[in-house]
Amino acid sequence: MSQTQAAVTTGPETGPHAEGAAVAAPAARVVLATRNRHKVDELRRMLAESGLAVEVLDLAGAAAELGEVPEVAETGVTFVENAMLKAHAVAQATGLPAIGDDSGLCLDVLGGSPGVFSARWSGKHGDDTANLELLLAQLDEVPEDKRTAWFACAAVLALPDGRERIAEGRLVGTVVRQRSGSNGFGYDPIFRPDGYEVTLAELTADAKDAISHRGRALAELVRRIPEILPQVRQG
Ligand code: IMP
Repeated sequence: MSQTQAAVTTGPETGPHAEGAAVAAPAARVVLATRNRHKVDELRRMLAESGLAVEVLDLAGAAAELGEVPEVAETGVTFVENAMLKAHAVAQATGLPAIGDDSGLCLDVLGGSPGVFSARWSGKHGDDTANLELLLAQLDEVPEDKRTAWFACAAVLALPDGRERIAEGRLVGTVVRQRSGSNGFGYDPIFRPDGYEVTLAELTADAKDAISHRGRALAELVRRIPEILPQVRQG
């Protein structure tokens, strides 16, 4: 049954043929492979702006409805590999289209590290303070003009049948010596985007979303959703 047919639940007097009737087709559903509320909200905002009728479930929401979704180990060595691992595993487990993402900070002087190891650079997964302090200590002798860096994000949309779309985003800047600002997370207090006088931690969430690696990757992926989910309509 098509989505339009599925939406026709009313009688002729109030149905699609009645004058002035507007029948909304159900939104497509996509699971975002994360437990991070901020990422879910960001994707929802982008979908709303794009006009695509897509309902986003996070892992907790998917588990509540469809049963436990297994944790996916980030065993890849590139952002794209990790994003693919998450997206395909969650699409398989839930039977729904799924989006996975992976991101990190890359320094030219460190050959692209911390990269996929950004969340566990100090050895303790998710210890933002320890990770940031170790990086600053490693860069202590590095002069200003050699502290160039970029945040990278890969986002993958995978379908249960194995089809996928990949999008990537970058934000280029410099790792400064002193932490500054209290917004955001991770390495935000020491990353100054090119063209800015402040760190990411001194920007509002909206200002950061508008330029961030994740914002750019997700925006590109949202543009590509209709390529493999053609039934997704403008809301
Ligand atoms: P994940 O993509 O959520 O797994 O993030 C990986 C790690 O990269 C985080 O724990 C942070 O250390 C770092 N990271 C990724 N994106 C950002 C960002 O926007 N700001 C600061 N740190 C980030």
